[in-house]
Amino acid sequence: TLLPVIAGVRVYPEYIADGALVIDDETGLIINYGSREAMLANYVLTATNDSQEPVQIHDHRHKLIMPGFIDTHVHYPQIDMIAAYGEQLLDWLNNYTFVTEANFGDPKIAHDTAQFFLNQLLANGTTSAMVFATSHPLSAEAFFAESHRLNTRMITGNVLMDQNAPEPLCVPAEQSIRDTQNIIDNWHERGRQHVAITPRFAITSSPTQLRLAGELYASHDSVYLQTHLAENRDEVAFVQELYPNHKGYLDVYDDMGLLGRRTTLAHGIYLETPEYERLRATGTQISHCPTSNLFLGSGLFDLPKTLSYTGVSIATDVGAGTSLSMLTTLSEAYKVQQLQSNQLSAHQGLYQITLGNAQSLLLDDKIGNFMPSKEADFVVIDMKATALLERRMAQTKTLEEQLFVLIMLGDDRVIEQTIIAGQSRYRKSAV
Ligand code: GUN
Ligand code: FE
Repeated sequence: TLLPVIAGVRVYPEYIADGALVIDDETGLIINYGSREAMLANYVLTATNDSQEPVQIHDHRHKLIMPGFIDTHVHYPQIDMIAAYGEQLLDWLNNYTFVTEANFGDPKIAHDTAQFFLNQLLANGTTSAMVFATSHPLSAEAFFAESHRLNTRMITGNVLMDQNAPEPLCVPAEQSIRDTQNIIDNWHERGRQHVAITPRFAITSSPTQLRLAGELYASHDSVYLQTHLAENRDEVAFVQELYPNHKGYLDVYDDMGLLGRRTTLAHGIYLETPEYERLRATGTQISHCPTSNLFLGSGLFDLPKTLSYTGVSIATDVGAGTSLSMLTTLSEAYKVQQLQSNQLSAHQGLYQITLGNAQSLLLDDKIGNFMPSKEADFVVIDMKATALLERRMAQTKTLEEQLFVLIMLGDDRVIEQTIIAGQSRYRKSAV
């Protein structure tokens, strides 16, 4: 691969103007990266002399390659109702979301939608995600089957719901936990798949279901947990009504044993200082979903404050989020911070959607940058994919300016190719 390389290393990306990424086809792992000259000298020339293995060179001159993007919170069944008009969270769930999710008891719908969704992720340069299925166990299994086939690193689980939702989506507490246990047995750490225990949120699970979820979480040391937290004022008030004796929304999850380093809570907009302190004490991670927060009119996420307490990742939250593109998501994250007079630089943003999100999910030993022995998940980006981008890029003077323009104006159109563990899984069709 001959190209300019950017490897997300902490907040400051490493940029190589004329670089190369060396990959082992067999294992799908990165062997090394560096200047094209050095990589050619160290690998290509020696390999052709000493070994039978032919070295294939893919030339991506004038393109940018970056680690694949990671989306830490997204609902795959909701791709079928993205952009549903006119409601805020609780009405949006009742009027659109639950209606669509009820269809996923049909294995054909689950399989077709999982396949479509995963292909859309790849078309947007997203190579790993933490995903909600529905309460039907087969919705999670269909997703894992398709992800396993593509060899993408993904996290999902059946959604736990047993109250305050339509009857077909409710699964009794004990049954739903047995479903998750089965899915763990079948899929957890099989290939690149991981299971997350997935209570939808405090409103749609009984105290019994939440407590059983906490016990299941405590009994596994590498299974994840994902849910929603304090996204919307009416939601927070409803939780307070359901749990009048708890100190707040987070305290419900805390009491049920749902917090910890492997837990990711989406949103966290309406939190009090003691709740931030519990996030810090337990290592619980927050996933910020800017397009969703704007679309549902949920509120403005306080990024600097949350970051001062715990790890924050950035995510799309489709179908409340309006785009699967992590570039578009960063562009909206920037604007949400602008409304609060906070900054979000291009370097910080691109770090976040690669190595930063990998760290939040405890996957930074495997993905997130180009360190030797990591898995070769990466994207080839055309910085001049549109007439506007080409014209605007011609006016830029620095790399950081170019990357900022890419974030503001880029989306799936800039993704030329997506590679999963060394295998090309998506190529933009020629126009
Ligand atoms: N809270 C509970 N369920 C959902 C969901 O599906 N989407 C969003 N944005 N928030 C939720
Ligand atoms: Fe969500």
